[in-house]
Amino acid sequence: MMRKPLMIANWKMNKTRDDALAFIYAVNDSLPSSEFVDTVICAPTIILRDLVKRQGDTLKIGAQNVFYEENGAYTGEISPVMLTSTGVEYVIVGHSERRSIFHETDEDVNKKVLACLKHGLKPILCIGETLEERENDKTLEVLESQITKDLKGVSPEMMENVIIAYEPIWAIGTGKTATAKMANEACSFVRELVKKLYNAAVSEETRILYGGSMKPANAKELLNEPDIDGGLVGGASLDPESFLELVKDCTL
Ligand code: 13P
Repeated sequence: MMRKPLMIANWKMNKTRDDALAFIYAVNDSLPSSEFVDTVICAPTIILRDLVKRQGDTLKIGAQNVFYEENGAYTGEISPVMLTSTGVEYVIVGHSERRSIFHETDEDVNKKVLACLKHGLKPILCIGETLEERENDKTLEVLESQITKDLKGVSPEMMENVIIAYEPIWAIGTGKTATAKMANEACSFVRELVKKLYNAAVSEETRILYGGSMKPANAKELLNEPDIDGGLVGGASLDPESFLELVKDCTL
């Protein structure tokens, strides 16, 4: 089975409602058919519903975070049930900014992945090493530990709805991209790991994305690699033209 490419914008804490709507109007008619590529925008929670109303076959909307409980005294948090009720399909889980700034652990990330799957949301699980870990030859060890802990209790059937994003932390927002070879090596290692934890079919079908300073100038090379199925893009996803170009690069 051929994995369908997937291009995801992670807007992070950017864009007001008006900015976001202007973006959607600018790209909506030019996006390639979902027959060739899946396109997702992960937007700030407060504007999700406005964007979901404008999502269609070619564009899906996702959230950037979720809490794992369904309801209760968790001031400021958003539950998976609340996200489902807005109509979003995808949620970024375990982004390195959440891990480092908001101290999310692999155990938290695992609970979030399971909560998403229980409520019909597709988690985009982010993993990746720091510069120090890479320089100390710890990259594969870190990826193995994150994948093993973050996917604990996820069954082979549930893996159909899981997307993995390899985002080396040193490449995020820094302008330093992993070389295509480096990025593919990591994604291919993750695919082998998925095979070991599940089976060959699950490993062949799981979409593994690269994220970290991906932009139109380097996307084709990265997307050409056999184990990179798409991108999770921050900075270069904020401009409609640049994002459209990235989505189109997935179809080449
Ligand atoms: P940049 O594309 O801005 O490096 O961000 C990558 C990222 O963190 C996507 O989740």
